[in-house]
Amino acid sequence: MTTTTNATTTKVLDVSGVTMKFGGLTAVREVDLTVNSGEIVGLIGPNGAGKTTFFNCLTGLYVPTSGTVKYKDTVLPPKPHLVTKAGIARTFQNIRLFANMTVLENVLVGRHTRTKEGLWSALLRLPGFKRAEEESRAKAMELLEFTGLAHKADHLARNLPYGEQRKLEIARALASEPGLLLLDEPTAGMNPAETRATEELVFAIRDMGIAIVVIEHDIRFIMNLCDRVAVLVQGEKIVEGPAEVVQRDERVIAAYLGEPYEDTTAAGSAAPSPEAPRADGEDQDGAGPGKENDR
Ligand SMILES: Nc1ncnc2c1ncn2[C@@H]1O[C@H](COP(=O)(O)OP(=O)(O)O)[C@@H](O)[C@H]1O
Ligand SMILES: [Mg+2]
Repeated sequence: MTTTTNATTTKVLDVSGVTMKFGGLTAVREVDLTVNSGEIVGLIGPNGAGKTTFFNCLTGLYVPTSGTVKYKDTVLPPKPHLVTKAGIARTFQNIRLFANMTVLENVLVGRHTRTKEGLWSALLRLPGFKRAEEESRAKAMELLEFTGLAHKADHLARNLPYGEQRKLEIARALASEPGLLLLDEPTAGMNPAETRATEELVFAIRDMGIAIVVIEHDIRFIMNLCDRVAVLVQGEKIVEGPAEVVQRDERVIAAYLGEPYEDTTAAGSAAPSPEAPRADGEDQDGAGPGKENDR
């Protein structure tokens, strides 16, 4: 399990009153959320609850109808590249890799906000940037080692099995050297062994000093991993608290879980969730359960 606060805890993310309306639909309503350094925070809720929309509001893909997003005491401008530059990285519910680039090149793309020479020189290997490029490649290779993909560095991203594509998304996100990582359904479509490995990876990322917010349907994964869990239902945060409190909350059980989660450590599937994607690796065609707004 995880360790929680200590004396040097600082606020990494401070979201206040974020609302996102699409015409007559309020997808996210007045949501507050804080994330402290060293924390792994879970965000759960039924399909359509507004979880991905909330991430899109944090990362500048959507401009919230109202509310503010502060990262380390600075209000973020709603522009994705500025958000990345400030220190927030994310992965997508629908995997978004450059399919025809190699694994290594995908990670190099993720580094471009942190390199002076920029994206094109990194990709085209223009002369005069050799040293910076070598540093970038070394750093990217380190991340591939860290995520267990180093042996596939030269493979095309599209040829990776699904679970490894999700890992590559994480490696690419880490390449921007974030202080906060947002993971949108990182284990969707993974089998139990891959899910367990992803848990370890998320803990390792936390131990590198990166705070994490993770959206996931797999309740076992969330409860194993998270210090704190927030529950969204129809755009509203109905409950927030320590994982062990949230999993026993009547409102959460009624709205989402169906029945209390029992921590049996034997291998098995997550608590029932009628809308959850399969976690057993079957019916896997490489497409996540994402929806059209996942961009
Ligand atoms: N760009 C958009 N335009 C219109 N409606 C949207 C858009 N993005 C999301 N929505 C709606 O907002 C609601 C929340 O969706 P989403 O954030 O994807 O939920 P979750 O990730 O919790 O499954 C859904 O009703 C969805 O259809
Ligand atoms: Mg979603």
